[in-house]
Amino acid sequence: METQSTQPQRRSVSSLSLIEGEESVTEVVLRAMARTEDVRLRTVVASLVSHLHDFLREVRPSDEEFEQGLAFIAALGHATHATNNEVVLAADVLGLSTLVTTMNNSTQDGRTPGALLGPFYRPNAPRYQCGDCVVQDDSPGLPLFVSGTVRTTDGTVLPNAMVEIWQASPIGLYDNQDPRQPDRNLRGMFHADAEGNYHFRTVRPAGYPVPIDGPVGKLLAAQHRHPYRPAHIHFIVAAPGHRTLVTQVFADDSEILESDVTFGVHRQLVGAFQLVETGPGPWGDLQAPFYTLQFDFTLEPGEQTFPTPPID
Ligand code: BEZ
Ligand code: FE
Repeated sequence: METQSTQPQRRSVSSLSLIEGEESVTEVVLRAMARTEDVRLRTVVASLVSHLHDFLREVRPSDEEFEQGLAFIAALGHATHATNNEVVLAADVLGLSTLVTTMNNSTQDGRTPGALLGPFYRPNAPRYQCGDCVVQDDSPGLPLFVSGTVRTTDGTVLPNAMVEIWQASPIGLYDNQDPRQPDRNLRGMFHADAEGNYHFRTVRPAGYPVPIDGPVGKLLAAQHRHPYRPAHIHFIVAAPGHRTLVTQVFADDSEILESDVTFGVHRQLVGAFQLVETGPGPWGDLQAPFYTLQFDFTLEPGEQTFPTPPID
């Protein structure tokens, strides 16, 4: 006759899902995520976990250090709001954004290198005719005449290509950071002529610091790094049937070209900012001193898309 056991039934546990030592943690975690249906998500998260676990095995943080690391990530979130994205800034100063931009913008076919969109791109840039000036105020600073040609990778010019620009002022502030500047000052959208040529007048931009009042600023200070970007102009260049180019052109006389806090200066994106000390401006409407910048862009055939502005 069978007797009813009063002992609770022991569940059989698969030793595969129990932790036994450092390496087993990674295996158990990867196995737990293996049923993810979205293949790309499964691959990316599995790789992320593997690399993060290897990273921890390498640096062997104390419990306190691990807490500090998590607190830093939480602080990035707390410092992120409508006008500042501290998470993006962290990716920028760690070189992650430039690495991804470089990986996704091959220059093999002669395409102009891409560069970060950055946090200051705004929608609704004023529409201008070629030759117009994007300076809406009387802030001091030397005039800068910018011109160039837009081509496709086989060298053919791209008539009517769209050229959008935005830049900081001669004191290193974008319009949205500086209540003294008119809205959308130093921003503009142009169309190249039938030969792919564009030209406009602006004022020479200055380099500027990235925001340093949050956790990224503390990290930079601890690393003895300055927070500056060299003087540059942002460009978006687009034409139908071509991959839109998001890039920046840097002033060749900037002293910090080699220490851009966001590592954005590609060799081919250094433009010759030439100081002209005597004579009339290239379009006859101004006298020296002024700067000129001649910079051509090459787009590759592909899909024309436009970036989403990070702010309004
Ligand atoms: C910018 O060039 O506008 C920029 C890029 C990364 C961080 C901060 C500013
Ligand atoms: Fe910028």
